[in-house]
Amino acid sequence: MRKEILFLKKYLKSPQSIGSVMPSSEFLAKAMFNSIKDLDKTSVIEIGAGTGAITKHISSLNPLLVEIDKEFCVLLRQNYPHLKTVNSCALEQLKKVDEGFGLVLSIPLINNPFKTSFIPLIAALYSSGLLKWCVMYTYGLNNPLDEVNFKSKERKRFVMKNFPPASVWVYS
Ligand SMILES: C[S@@+](CC[C@H](N)C(=O)[O-])C[C@H]1O[C@@H](n2cnc3c(N)ncnc32)[C@H](O)[C@@H]1O
Repeated sequence: MRKEILFLKKYLKSPQSIGSVMPSSEFLAKAMFNSIKDLDKTSVIEIGAGTGAITKHISSLNPLLVEIDKEFCVLLRQNYPHLKTVNSCALEQLKKVDEGFGLVLSIPLINNPFKTSFIPLIAALYSSGLLKWCVMYTYGLNNPLDEVNFKSKERKRFVMKNFPPASVWVYS
C-alpha cells in the first residue's frame, strides 16, 4: 500500500495520535535536518517516525526510531534496515535513556493527552543533562514546549510547502 494511503487510513482510525492527513513534505523534512545540523553532535532519537518522511532526511545521523504503530514499524524496518526501530510508546522508550541525546519529535501535542505525561518527562530529561536539544514541528502558532525550561527556544523556520504549513522549533 502506498505510504500516503496507509497514513490516511491510520489518521482516520486515530486522528489524535497521527495528527495530520498526510506525511510531512520533503520541504519540512529538509527544514528539520537543516535545523539539526547547527546543533551539538550527539546520538539522536526520533519519536513518531511514521512512514519515515523525516527519517529519510536525517538517516545520516543514525537515529533510533521509535514508533507506536506496528504497521509503520514494518515499513520503517523495510526502508531503513540499517537503523534500529523500536515499536513502543515514546514515553516508555525515553524513560530508559541513560546517555546524552538529541530528540527529533513529530508526535502531535495539540489536544493530545500524551502531552500531560510528555512535558514533565522532557523537563526531567533536560534538567538531568541527558536531553541536549529537541527539534520539532507544529501546525499551531504557539510555542509547543513553552512549559519546559529550555535555555534557548526558537521558532527557526516556517515551511509553507507542507500540508498544513508548519513551524520548526528548536530547543537547547
Ligand atoms: C504527525 S505523524 C508524523 C509522522 C512522520 N514523522 C512525518 O512527519 O510524516 C505522528 C506519528 O507519531 C506516532 N505516535 C503517536 N503517538 C505516539 C507515541 N506515544 N509514541 C510513539 N509514536 C507515537 C504516530 O503513530 C504517527 O506515526
